[in-house]
Amino acid sequence: MQKITVETRPIEGQKPGTSGLRKKTPVFMGPHYLENFVQAIWTAIGGVAGKTLVLGGDGRYFNDRAAQVILRMAAAGGAARVIVGQNALLSTPAASNLIRKRKTDGGVIMSASHNPGGPDEDFGVKFNTPNGGPAPEEVTNRIFEATTTITSYDILEAQDVDLSTLGETTLGDMVVEVVDPVADYAALMEALFDFDAIRALIAGGFTLRFDAMHAVTGPYAKAILEDILGAPAGSVVNAVPSPDFGGGHPDPNPIWAKPLVDLVMGPDAPDFAAASDGDGDRNMILGRGIVVTPSDSLAVLAANAHLAPGYADGLKGVARSMPTSRAVDRVAEAKGIDCYETPTGWKFFGNLLDAGRATLCGEESAGTGSDHVREKDGLWAVLLWLNILARSGKSVAGTLSDHWQTFGRNYYTRHDYEALDKAMAEAMLDDLRGRLPGLPGQVIAGRTVESADEFAYDDPVDGSHSAGQGLRVHFQGGARVVFRLSGTGTVGATLRVYLEDFVDDPARLEAPVEEVLADIIAAADEIAGIRNRTGRDAPDVKT
Ligand code: G1P
Ligand code: ZN
Repeated sequence: MQKITVETRPIEGQKPGTSGLRKKTPVFMGPHYLENFVQAIWTAIGGVAGKTLVLGGDGRYFNDRAAQVILRMAAAGGAARVIVGQNALLSTPAASNLIRKRKTDGGVIMSASHNPGGPDEDFGVKFNTPNGGPAPEEVTNRIFEATTTITSYDILEAQDVDLSTLGETTLGDMVVEVVDPVADYAALMEALFDFDAIRALIAGGFTLRFDAMHAVTGPYAKAILEDILGAPAGSVVNAVPSPDFGGGHPDPNPIWAKPLVDLVMGPDAPDFAAASDGDGDRNMILGRGIVVTPSDSLAVLAANAHLAPGYADGLKGVARSMPTSRAVDRVAEAKGIDCYETPTGWKFFGNLLDAGRATLCGEESAGTGSDHVREKDGLWAVLLWLNILARSGKSVAGTLSDHWQTFGRNYYTRHDYEALDKAMAEAMLDDLRGRLPGLPGQVIAGRTVESADEFAYDDPVDGSHSAGQGLRVHFQGGARVVFRLSGTGTVGATLRVYLEDFVDDPARLEAPVEEVLADIIAAADEIAGIRNRTGRDAPDVKT
């Protein structure tokens, strides 16, 4: 086997976004594209010589081919060992767990998360550091820099490694260790949760449906929910990962997981339902007659986590991304623990988790997790919910009603405008940024603006400063609108508008969301001029 050095030159646009580098699959499959980026990762981490890495992905189109390239490049770089999930599959949280558990030098995860997959859809690659979390900005900046100066990459000339058989093989001098992608993760879940209580709940007739959306959590959910916890066969649906996710978006929201929403709203609703995304880090929680917003889910989990053995000693603190509703803040206040507000993106939680300042964290975009790994974790959230329900004996809807009675309710929705002209979207937010100082005191759609600013974050652990993290407008009475542009989209720009209002009048705790938020939605449009500027009558996605 021979190591060859291939001449290349920088390819534009290889800047990692909120969560690694995501591009259309044909772009990633283009000449030198993947190779340049992987070599840039090696450069950014000081080379891979002698190192041990984890490798896996969500099974989308090109996952298998890309894995072979990355293995050959790791071998050419002198890596000692790569631990790969069987068939190059690993959910993002399972990869995070392996990186930590095996004390490796990090890992490469192939995923574009909830974006669709296929020959004309999306692909992505990200690097996670030895703590198991997404590379911080300082590392992703170095990766990007390396992509702009690259002149060559090293790769081994070799046949494909057999990734279907468990065990060790070699590629040149490097050991390739193919592992069961589920085993270590399932063991971790068993250590955190009261599996006996969940087993008893299910044995007692509690019904559940988990939709794996043809993505990577299928094998994990089948093993844990059906084989270990005893849910009847068929409780996990769409459980076989497919390269194009069955032609859909593996995005657990009320649009893409509509069949699940219809199910819980219909006559045959199970007691509990859930879905996860392409790479298994997101979650959607539903119960009979109810879809739980991710922000509410985070608050409920924070309020009740002590019912799970792994969290029986209480929480050190909680953290949420800035646009996430402030429901969890009220729980933290009641418990007397710290609540951190971070920019969008899981990587900002890493320092807080590492420093032991936060135990639970979450984002409005269906991401919830804890210090058990350094990624958000879809199945973990499902299991914590099941643990809580098993111990409290309440229904999902009953749990929410009780929560709102205790803490009040942060009504919440997010409106997305997708594939906008990038220059237009940027100009719209630039313009609004300039008008922020004049907004306080103005009455817009019947609501008085209390304050308006652009969010910036000073990391309390390493002191790093992140500017430009979203424009926010607060209204008297606790309502809020946040505007920001997506950092994960692959076409044009996506405007995200986050809308929230707080209600503690016991008579208004179960009202329709769109009704409660109607004037805040109108105010958001007026403040940013969304309809005028975009020419759109309505958002593409409402979550
Ligand atoms: C989106 C979500 C964000 C999440 C990220 C990666 O990023 O909003 O919460 O961390 O995907 O899953 P965005 O496209 O908004 O930059
Ligand atoms: Zn994901």
